[in-house]
Amino acid sequence: MKIEKWLKEHEVDLKGKNVLFVGWTGSIGFEALKVLASWNATLFLAARNLEKANKKIEELKKACPNVTAYTYPLDLSSLASVDSFVDALKKDDLHFDVFINNAGVFHLNPRTTVDGYDETFEVNTLSHIYLLKKIIPLLNLNARVISTSSMSYKFYKGNLSNIALENISSKMKKYALSKQEMLNAFMFMKENAERKDIEMVLIHPGIVPTELFEKGYSKFFMAIIFPIMKVLFHSPRKAMLGILLALNENVSSNEWIAPRGLLEAWGYPKKAKIKKSVLLLNEKVHSYINSLIRE
Ligand SMILES: NC(=O)c1ccc[n+]([C@@H]2O[C@H](COP(=O)([O-])OP(=O)(O)OC[C@H]3O[C@@H](n4cnc5c(N)ncnc54)[C@H](OP(=O)(O)O)[C@@H]3O)[C@@H](O)[C@H]2O)c1
Repeated sequence: MKIEKWLKEHEVDLKGKNVLFVGWTGSIGFEALKVLASWNATLFLAARNLEKANKKIEELKKACPNVTAYTYPLDLSSLASVDSFVDALKKDDLHFDVFINNAGVFHLNPRTTVDGYDETFEVNTLSHIYLLKKIIPLLNLNARVISTSSMSYKFYKGNLSNIALENISSKMKKYALSKQEMLNAFMFMKENAERKDIEMVLIHPGIVPTELFEKGYSKFFMAIIFPIMKVLFHSPRKAMLGILLALNENVSSNEWIAPRGLLEAWGYPKKAKIKKSVLLLNEKVHSYINSLIRE
């Protein structure tokens, strides 16, 4: 099937709907953004790099001249930035029908944030959950939350005595566990949500040659690996279809959206299952993350 045909079959009318999108300036996110704009969404866009964001909006406007888009600063490596971001949304009296958090980092070198956490942990797990908790009260009735995890969540066993992912030398292990822990806390919140009207859907895009890898590996390594990845795996344009499928009415909170190809590494998105043993950690991971979150 061609992507255009898939898009026609799965189109959702977003006219009059407010979509809050985090992680749209990157490869997969920007492909999704262009479609959301063409489906007439009103876009509220969070970005850590406003210069990059403005260039992307110019590009978006070339494809979709009538788009309505507002940008807000947000750096997920700082809890204070999450606070300021949500304060700005509240000041503008905004409410949302869709909240997408597709942001993620995979770092070449370990970094410590202003809050004293490992950056991969803070961006991919802690701030993801902190922001979600703060956005839920701003969601309209029957809103949808879509969060991006990773298929790598299933490759490593979670370690409850090191949820903050300190001193893990393998960046792949750290990344995978950060996405697994986000999944754990997200699933716990979903199962214990007071707002039963909200659909909370987790997705993963498979393996996609994107900026994420360029940020995570050396230029030399990428020069060899990237062309091979482009042949073996799928494009950001196909990978973003999972985000769009999660907007469909027949996709509920109970679903995990993943590519349908071998090992869920590529292909059109489908409803899939999360590894059961990982879900056993939900409550403990959520409780730890909650303990780090300031009121
Ligand atoms: N590519 C893959 O194979 C793959 C596989 C599994 C899961 N994923 C997940 O898919 C999502 C999209 O990834 P991608 O491949 O499209 O990577 P990408 O191009 O690097 O996009 C990552 C996005 O996250 C944003 N972001 C990173 N750090 C942030 C921070 N501190 N504050 C706010 N935003 C931040 C980036 O903003 P900037 O533009 O400012 O950097 C960008 O918009 C990520 O969650 C990633 O973990 C990707």
